[in-house]
Amino acid sequence: MKPVNIGIVGLGTVGSGTFNVLNRNAEDITRRAGRAIQVTHVGARRDNPAADTSGVTVSRDVTEVISDPAVDIVVELIGGVTLAKELVLGSIAAGKHVVTANKALIAEHGNEIFAAAQAKGVNVAFEAAVAGGIPIIKAIREGLSANQIQWVAGIINGTGNFILTEMKEKGRAFDDALAEAQALGYAEADPTFDVEGIDAAHKLTILASVAFGIPLQFEKAYTEGISKITAEDVRYADELGYSIKHLGITRKTSAGVELRVHPTLIHNSRLLANVNGVMNAVMAMSDAVGPTLYYGPGAGAEPTASSVVADIVDVARALTTDPDNRVPHLAFHADTLSDTPILPIDQITTAYYLRLKAKDTPGVMAKIATILSDSGINIESLLQKEVEVDHGQVPIIMITREVKESRMNDALKKLEAEDDVVGSVMRIRLEQLDG
Ligand code: HSE
Repeated sequence: MKPVNIGIVGLGTVGSGTFNVLNRNAEDITRRAGRAIQVTHVGARRDNPAADTSGVTVSRDVTEVISDPAVDIVVELIGGVTLAKELVLGSIAAGKHVVTANKALIAEHGNEIFAAAQAKGVNVAFEAAVAGGIPIIKAIREGLSANQIQWVAGIINGTGNFILTEMKEKGRAFDDALAEAQALGYAEADPTFDVEGIDAAHKLTILASVAFGIPLQFEKAYTEGISKITAEDVRYADELGYSIKHLGITRKTSAGVELRVHPTLIHNSRLLANVNGVMNAVMAMSDAVGPTLYYGPGAGAEPTASSVVADIVDVARALTTDPDNRVPHLAFHADTLSDTPILPIDQITTAYYLRLKAKDTPGVMAKIATILSDSGINIESLLQKEVEVDHGQVPIIMITREVKESRMNDALKKLEAEDDVVGSVMRIRLEQLDG
């Protein structure tokens, strides 16, 4: 059978990894795909010493890959959303299939891109956009297709997980751990995308769509970063038996879909709490199979290339199939996507870790407990630390039972207005994730 010709656009970390994996494993990939898969054209503004492109056409003008009639599948690995979107839509218009690792592009423009692809009868595959080397899109979209999925929760940003792990295990400062994550090549070009949760929100948006059959709605995702997590929160959480992880959580409730990224306490007995360093993990709770957990590297040249190449093999296998009978981009057929609303963050229900400082006066605990109980908030555990000698204040740490966030917000306002409470209250959400 005629070989499948690949055009790679972008020869950075993932581009060179993809190029090398396709070449190194060409024989097994051919045996799996049923035909040879060869890179015939690379579009790159500069060479990358990590990839030997001799014998392959290399264009400095990356649009030449899209207009090359010999290219069957365009692999978009330049990142960003502006040029990448033009290249992907241009490839679709030219009747070419697309493989991309671009989470921002899919989360923000996927609805338009998939509609264009469907109209043209081509595929846009994006496994590498979520959790790097973990085949999580395939697992949810195909492996769990018997199930009603109830929730998906994951550590889907390696940089953030690396930082929190270093803070917990080595007591390192936030900035110091971030600088190392950047040096190791895990972080995005703009690391605020990692630490403020935007990268994770892009990935979570995609997971929610394939899990629940809803359009991509990145603009409705709630995003809270880890930069305000202090070493004392990490330590107190540990004393209570918890780890702080930066989680993406999407849950289907009777009122709508929760779509949120924020620091989260998870009990140390849960597997997710033990996913450390740059590793990613995604847990899905589904009605038939129950809990399933997927673990692996979420970034890096060859782990991400593993997902890109798997997509290329999938697309190659589907080249001769009827477009209407291919796996739908978002797991559910486009005309069956549901309009279930995304819930605003104050409508979610969760448990909380609270840390505050109170004046060391008689009855202060009773006042705090009264404010919480008047708001219907149940305290599950409580730590009162020694008085700080320099200002006579007592750090108080509490874990509450589940409550609607709007109710917690009201209680926090009342607590902060109380004379005996000093400054603001630190609030971190806490999830059981026990199914
Ligand atoms: N910056 C991302 C991370 C890379 O740290 O997980 C993979 O998307």
